Amino acid sequence: MTLSARDLSVRFGGLQALAEVSLEVTPGRILGLIGPNGAGKTTLFNCLTGVIQPKGTVVVDGVEITQLRTDERVRRGISRTFQTPRLDMNRTVLDAVMLGYTPHLAQGRLACFLGLPSVGRSEEHLRNGAIEKIRLLGLGGAAEDRAGSLSLGQLRLLEVARALVAGPRYLLLDEPAAGLDESDRIRLADAIKNAAASGIGIVLIEHNVGFVSRLSHELLALVNGTVVARGEPNSVVCSEKVVEAYLGPAYVH
Ligand SMILES: Nc1ncnc2c1ncn2[C@@H]1O[C@H](COP(=O)(O)OP(=O)(O)OP(=O)(O)O)[C@@H](O)[C@H]1O
Ligand SMILES: [Mg+2]
Repeated sequence: MTLSARDLSVRFGGLQALAEVSLEVTPGRILGLIGPNGAGKTTLFNCLTGVIQPKGTVVVDGVEITQLRTDERVRRGISRTFQTPRLDMNRTVLDAVMLGYTPHLAQGRLACFLGLPSVGRSEEHLRNGAIEKIRLLGLGGAAEDRAGSLSLGQLRLLEVARALVAGPRYLLLDEPAAGLDESDRIRLADAIKNAAASGIGIVLIEHNVGFVSRLSHELLALVNGTVVARGEPNSVVCSEKVVEAYLGPAYVH
């Protein structure tokens, strides 16, 4: 069981956004993805989720999915959040989170997905499942509020709840901690750890190197579309190329 990308390359005109990037994440593991602005982190997520067609291959649990549409990949267990939350601000928080079920509903496989006998009951189960995730992310008091009334940090937490209700085996989080205050950051970190402990493989893009190092089992560092370091978090953070990319060549000794 693995989500793996092999030799992904993407060009935007003259810009090589990704150059033969490979990664693997297995159930229960947290892979941190770091790198300066423009390194290609979000582009990598776009390749994994089918927003962009790269050169190279994407394989989930032994099945190549490189040609599949985004919704088909969600049904195969890959969910994501966006760097800039994509939400209908007029919906309630609960409705916005329930949209996370949509790819499964569209396939008509909901009863199978939930193991449920009847539609009436399934609706209630969907609601309860969504409310549970909303509470987990600390938004329980806001379930009936408009999404538009939330802070940016809370919208990121809402996106995590929405991604979780899809029941993913792999969860891709694009800077979920950006703009969060300390208590929400702790709640997010707990939710990520719990998701991993429940067997979800997680890829976490994050600029806060301390936050991502503490949470991740492994780090992968991208600079200008190229992998410059990967492995145990502390060794990646201290590696020459990562220090140079974040702080400049003067800091490398
Ligand atoms: N659709 C696009 N068309 C053209 N260039 C793009 C497109 N998407 C991304 N790029 C460029 O590709 C490079 C990688 O962008 P990407 O968004 O993947 O970086 P990132 O590592 O996520 O950065 P950040 O930390 O700022 O979010 C950047 O130079 C960006 O301007
Ligand atoms: Mg990005």
